[in-house]
Amino acid sequence: MKVLLINGSPNEHGCTYTALILIARELNARGIETEITWLGNDAVRGCIGCGGCKKFGKCVFGDDRVNAIGEKCKGADGYVFGAPVHYASPNGAMICAMDRLFMAFGQHMKFKPAACIVSARRAGTTASYDVLNKYLGINNMITVPSSYWNMVHGSRPEDVIKDEEGVSIMRGIGSNLAWLLKVLDSVKGTPLEKPEVIPKAKTNFIR
Ligand SMILES: Cc1cc2nc3c(=O)[nH]c(=O)nc-3n(C[C@H](O)[C@H](O)[C@H](O)COP(=O)(O)O)c2cc1C
Repeated sequence: MKVLLINGSPNEHGCTYTALILIARELNARGIETEITWLGNDAVRGCIGCGGCKKFGKCVFGDDRVNAIGEKCKGADGYVFGAPVHYASPNGAMICAMDRLFMAFGQHMKFKPAACIVSARRAGTTASYDVLNKYLGINNMITVPSSYWNMVHGSRPEDVIKDEEGVSIMRGIGSNLAWLLKVLDSVKGTPLEKPEVIPKAKTNFIR
């Protein structure tokens, strides 16, 4: 079983990465394979709603890492989406990436467990956490919690390690995600593997 951890920060080895490492270690200790992948710090296009992904199975924009991350998502059993807080929201590049990732590759992630985490110096954490969790909620995913809302604090990686409560929250995510993956694996091949799919009624409230 494999978990893909996505670092949406422009800093490859910053605070978000440090938090993801804490989660990955707990997963590895419980026999779960992990891969941390970085969104990068080049420009990330926003979704233009062209519908091309429905035709081609990937985003029409191939000049950033979103499609490559989407391909990795296909093979993963679970996910962790991490972002730093920028002006009380997840960083802009991560929002652009999440929009396109879920439009183009959401079908490969549904019914799988995932956790979202945020890293901030001080504030905007719960608002940012809400934004990220909403991608899971619209995509039939199982949201993995911990002992508080999934956040760490710091400006540098060493600050994150000093945030004892943040560290314990991250470790809890790893433990809970590993447990859930094993529970789900134990019902593979049985009728309990997937829930009954209720067809989605899509309305716009426009007359
Ligand atoms: C453009 C920008 C905006 C930021 N806005 C906030 C903010 O609203 N609240 C906050 O607590 N920290 C804010 N920060 C600090 C980062 O969230 C914090 O240092 C974070 O842990 C960095 O994670 P990283 O090392 O993974 O990039 C901001 C940083 C940048 C660069």
